[in-house]
Amino acid sequence: MAGKNKNVYVCIECGAESAKWYGRCPACGAWNTLEEQISASSAHSKNGQAVKAVVQSIRDIRPNDKQRYHTGLQELDRVLGGGIVCGSLMLLGGDPGIGKSTLLLQICEHLGREHTVLYVSGEESEGQIKLRADRLQVSGENLLVLCENDMDAVLLSIQDTKPDIVIIDSIQTMNLAEIASASGSVTQVRECTSAIMRLAKRENISVFIVGHVNKDGAIAGPKVMEHIVDCVLYFEGDRHSSYRLLRCVKNRFGSTNEIGVFEMGGQGLAEVENPSLMLLSGRPLNVSGACVACTIEGTRPMLAEIQGLVSPTGFGNPRRMATGFDYNRLALILAVLEKRAGYFFSNLDIYVNVVGGLWLDEPAVDLPVALSLISGLKDVIIPSDCLAFGEIGLTGEIRAVSNADLRVSEAVRMGFKRVILPAHNLSSVAKRDTIQLIGVHTVREAFEAMQES
Ligand code: TYD
Ligand code: MG
Repeated sequence: MAGKNKNVYVCIECGAESAKWYGRCPACGAWNTLEEQISASSAHSKNGQAVKAVVQSIRDIRPNDKQRYHTGLQELDRVLGGGIVCGSLMLLGGDPGIGKSTLLLQICEHLGREHTVLYVSGEESEGQIKLRADRLQVSGENLLVLCENDMDAVLLSIQDTKPDIVIIDSIQTMNLAEIASASGSVTQVRECTSAIMRLAKRENISVFIVGHVNKDGAIAGPKVMEHIVDCVLYFEGDRHSSYRLLRCVKNRFGSTNEIGVFEMGGQGLAEVENPSLMLLSGRPLNVSGACVACTIEGTRPMLAEIQGLVSPTGFGNPRRMATGFDYNRLALILAVLEKRAGYFFSNLDIYVNVVGGLWLDEPAVDLPVALSLISGLKDVIIPSDCLAFGEIGLTGEIRAVSNADLRVSEAVRMGFKRVILPAHNLSSVAKRDTIQLIGVHTVREAFEAMQES
């Protein structure tokens, strides 16, 4: 653009700025992501009048015990660290159609009983929202709806109505008139987020912002949006299954790593209180090539079935495929099994699948992955009342993992009779009458222990 405005080129992936256009972002290496923008400083300078800042001693600052609002969905409350913190900014990301709007509209019913909620939609009309609200049985009189794309108008309405909670669905459809670029661009998203943040902090309003994700799975727009907000949640799940996982990747008011499990049904999202039962339901019993793993998500143990299929390679290089598990980690486990334990997979295709759409990246699932593969290779059944956890080291040793006792408790609760675990973990696990604990040092030992009944 010509004129006095100083233009910069901003990467829509990482937010890096450069003076020239490049086909490839010099900072993050993404291709064709640089967009011309009016520099942020010239956008800011319009409303910039310096105010003298106040410096305080840490002793004089009173902690504000921030109140939390309960959403009526315990799974969501737990992921947020105990409810929505008053005056906080939360970003909810996820694929299109995963259920972000459904989740947020659904919590309006409970929130609306004691607080006023303003639902701002830039994507749907009032009629569409009403239809959905009827289906979800949301009808509180404290729920206000605004269909608007103009950010200034939205900010004015927020100031007028002074709600306790605002939902912006979605930030990519919001548009600040003073910024030249199109909605959804990096500057628009950043400036809209900052504008809403300034208002939210001043008026002590909690805000949920829906953000679309791009094809790589990151929230579209600059990474800076994740830095601005207090809490970043991802809503994920397999489109073909009705289960949805809510994952927290950043939380200024609680722990991250917590996950919430939901099921999408005809009347919106229902909470799944016992995810292990859900993940293990309908699993085939007494077949080879499957092993149950126990993983910890946040503070919560979960059982999941891991399946390994081993079949002769048809032609050329053997294929290796992993769903729900890291491909490189699979390669490493296979190398250890060949070199250290004497199980050979070199002319075999290998497929590993974590049932239920979970992504397991914890080292403790190494052992069940290895056992499912050996079971598939030898065509030996792993008893269905038996589960395993443990990390595999490069010398073939089974290494201790964290929270062993919690994992065993979950196995007991779900009626398992035998647990194969790292021998070094045995001392930290309380003995129970109903379950047999077998400590192992190597993969081979683990497989042999699995077979003895
Ligand atoms: P939606 O919340 O619109 O997704 P997002 O806002 O993340 O794009 O979810 C839409 C999907 O959810 C759609 O495929 C239909 C399904 N759905 C149900 O199965 N049951 C319901 O009660 C509702 C409201 C939606
Ligand atoms: Mg939506």
